[in-house]
Amino acid sequence: MPRKPTLPPDDVCPRPTIVPSTSTQPQSTQPQPTQPLSPPIHLSSVYRCQSPEQADRLLGGDDEGYVYARDGHPNADMLADKCRELHAADHAAIAATGMAAMSLALLAHLKSGDRAVVSQQLYGKSLTLLEDESARLGIVSTRVNTCDLAAVRAAMTERTRLVVVETISNPILRVSDLSALAEIAHRGGAALLVDNTFAGPVVCRPHDFDADFVLESLTKSMNGHSDVVLGLLCGKAAVWQRVPAALSAWGFASSPFDCWLALRGLSTLAIRAERACANAMATAQWLTTQHQVEAVHYPGLPTHPDHDLARRQFGQRFGSIVTIALRGGRAAADAFIAAARDVPFCPSLGELSTTLSHPASTSHRGHSESQRASLGITGGTLRLSIGIETPDHIRAAIATGLAAASKH
Ligand SMILES: Cc1ncc(COP(=O)(O)O)c(C=O)c1O
Repeated sequence: MPRKPTLPPDDVCPRPTIVPSTSTQPQSTQPQPTQPLSPPIHLSSVYRCQSPEQADRLLGGDDEGYVYARDGHPNADMLADKCRELHAADHAAIAATGMAAMSLALLAHLKSGDRAVVSQQLYGKSLTLLEDESARLGIVSTRVNTCDLAAVRAAMTERTRLVVVETISNPILRVSDLSALAEIAHRGGAALLVDNTFAGPVVCRPHDFDADFVLESLTKSMNGHSDVVLGLLCGKAAVWQRVPAALSAWGFASSPFDCWLALRGLSTLAIRAERACANAMATAQWLTTQHQVEAVHYPGLPTHPDHDLARRQFGQRFGSIVTIALRGGRAAADAFIAAARDVPFCPSLGELSTTLSHPASTSHRGHSESQRASLGITGGTLRLSIGIETPDHIRAAIATGLAAASKH
């Protein structure tokens, strides 16, 4: 039997009286003659109100200001403002994860009986949300190949209220024709939701192509430092009305500290993205010359089926993801992963350094082999997320993996 600890009597160890601090700033620093250059972190979960009248006006939305962090807090607003600017959006909101941002869009925009048309190449968890989870709420999704515009038109019904695509799909990196999809959606009375995670705003701003909602997992290159899980939802004014209330009621709020970190990451996004895209292009071109590699998927290569569309939509940058198929199949992929110690196997993307993922055992493990084959995924498929190291370092790190793969 564990012995109960005996507490010392009060006169040996007097209990301190705990007085909660109610001051917002140390006395000695009020008022501040200067302002901090780096934004402060506002960790407070709740804010002091002056009076019941003021609380009523703030909570009712008649006055602007913070009351309770689940409804909004300064760090989320600073981050949302920056993202809204980057995406030239009317509105932006920060959610706890990329999936929370997707749930927010669905719950704000759809109701029971509505239908969605969704790309068959969506991120696996997005398909789970849009098909299995949404079905429980009476929302039915139809999966189509969104590169086939006729198939999208055919899938639209009079109850379709949302079309969901990714700018660049995972892992074969097909590019969606956003203007054409927006036109099809709008003609059918639906909104277009674009998951822009694989592109980011430096490569593509889907609102420029008439998308209604734009979503990004900020967990990836937007933050870029592998230390935050967050999501972004941007939207046009016409579809935004229910978003703030849904964010609060369904509880998708973000952490102030995570928002602060992501804002810091975002401040270097432009130079990180420029460098990663240039490295990805050089790596993709080099990989086409390697005998162990059966196929290189990169929208920047003229051989990519969507290259012309990518040039029209993206200009000169085609993203930082390069996907390859190794000739030796799964055995070659296993050997590559074991040998290429400088290319960590991390099932995510958009980190500072080059990483890889193996779709058959991670993002697409829930698909059957034939479903994977129809999406162009084999056991030898590797998705490389190219980082901002020097091009020579990246090439040497990948060459080590290829040398091991060539034995299979
Ligand atoms: C394309 C895409 N969308 C959405 C998400 C979900 O983002 P999060 O992991 O931040 O919830 C991911 C995650 O990998 C993703 O790859």
